[in-house]
Amino acid sequence: MKASSVLSFLSLTSGSLAWEWGKSGKWDSKPLKANGHSTATINYTTITGFFQQDDPATDASTFDYTTSNFGLINRTYPTDAQFDPHNRRTQWERFAYYVDSLNRDCDNNSQYKVLFMARHGEGYHNAAESYYGTPAWNCYWGLLDGNGTVTWRDARLTPAGLAQCTKAHAFWARALSESHIPAPQSYYSSPLIRSAITANLTFDDLPLPRDRPFAPVIKEGFREGISIRTCDARSDRSAIAELLPGFRFETGFAEHDPLWRGDEGEGETAEAQLRRTREVMDEVFAQDANTWISITTHSGQISKNLQVLGHRAFSLSTGQVVPALVRARIVGGAGTTTTAPGFTAEATCKATPVTSISGQGCVCGSMTAAAAAATATVA
Ligand SMILES: *[C@@H]1O[C@H](CO)[C@@H](O)[C@H](O)[C@H]1NC(C)=O
Ligand SMILES: *[C@@H]1O[C@H](CO)[C@@H](O)[C@H](O)[C@H]1NC(C)=O
Ligand SMILES: *[C@@H]1O[C@H](CO)[C@@H](O)[C@H](O)[C@H]1NC(C)=O
Ligand SMILES: *[C@@H]1O[C@H](CO)[C@@H](O)[C@H](O)[C@H]1NC(C)=O
Ligand SMILES: *[C@@H]1O[C@H](CO)[C@@H](O)[C@H](O)[C@H]1NC(C)=O
Repeated sequence: MKASSVLSFLSLTSGSLAWEWGKSGKWDSKPLKANGHSTATINYTTITGFFQQDDPATDASTFDYTTSNFGLINRTYPTDAQFDPHNRRTQWERFAYYVDSLNRDCDNNSQYKVLFMARHGEGYHNAAESYYGTPAWNCYWGLLDGNGTVTWRDARLTPAGLAQCTKAHAFWARALSESHIPAPQSYYSSPLIRSAITANLTFDDLPLPRDRPFAPVIKEGFREGISIRTCDARSDRSAIAELLPGFRFETGFAEHDPLWRGDEGEGETAEAQLRRTREVMDEVFAQDANTWISITTHSGQISKNLQVLGHRAFSLSTGQVVPALVRARIVGGAGTTTTAPGFTAEATCKATPVTSISGQGCVCGSMTAAAAAATATVA
């Protein structure tokens, strides 16, 4: 790569900012306190026109990143003439150079990152939701640990989910060797087993560059929306560590799940999930100077990521991944902190429900209404 020669040039000119070619972190005062609360407001914008997924004309329900070069649009960049005058570089090499130059040329309140946001492969809870149907799953089956045949508390991957990971691994292997896609420089994962295993099976044993090893970090903030269902309860830290010895944990990661309240009938509100997502995104952008970031997580969590990043809604099937080029700018001091409740009671039934109605909740049979159900309707 040409980058190494550019690096020595830039390190002489970038002065006290100590910005390096290939890095995005120009923010010299880290806008986060030790307790994780932002001391700055960060404005995120998805820069459109680079990936098919950010184009409203692309149909998310049929799109497959593995057959479309990750959705990277065939186009030219303003830096092509300088970087690739003889037309010898791949689309990804030219895009990478362009992104690096955006970081080189931007002011010190801004930075650009490319996020690869992956949804885990199919888990036993996904299969069970299809098998029982969503109303029965949400109001009854999802509250149990399993059905005697399969377990879905902190669900593992089904054979179909494992095959999706094999497909993702094969895609990355080909993209690295043929398309010269930049390997991620940082890897983050949800603490839920289905995502951590997906990250492992996707990236373990890939021919990655020496300076970009697969060194995943588990962050609590990247877990799925915390419903009362047991698939959203996480395992103990020590159990995760035993299963995936190469994963590291963010500082302060607790042994026991500090968040799930399903046994009290309470789930995380959508507002709280969005707030948590903004916090974890602020941490990544404030603490990680790398540009190319892999995040392996969940459908609900990714939809909140996209909301925070100003990306259009793009819903993913299991095993799918959405990329985004994001600009983050420090736009002011700490925002207002909200005191809105983070958790609220969710309705359930004591046996399989009649149905559930969007916005109303479970419709239990008259003999099976749970005594304490918050919004359950008795049919
Ligand atoms: C950006 O640079 C200016 C001038 O060097 C400095 O005053 C300011 O604190 C820097 N901003 C950030 C976020 O580091
Ligand atoms: C972020 O900045 C863009 C302009 O760059 C603006 O349109 C948008 O409203 C801002 N978003 C927030 C949440 O402040
Ligand atoms: C983009 O370019 C590649 C390589 O030249 C080609 O195989 C592919 O069909 C092109 N895709 C589109 C959508 O034009
Ligand atoms: C449990 O659920 C799975 C679908 O996830 C299904 O194949 C299996 O038959 C169910 N077991 C029982 C005992 O109903
Ligand atoms: C991924 O899984 C393999 C096989 O279980 C294990 O040997 C390896 O340590 C795991 N990788 C990480 C980073 O934990």
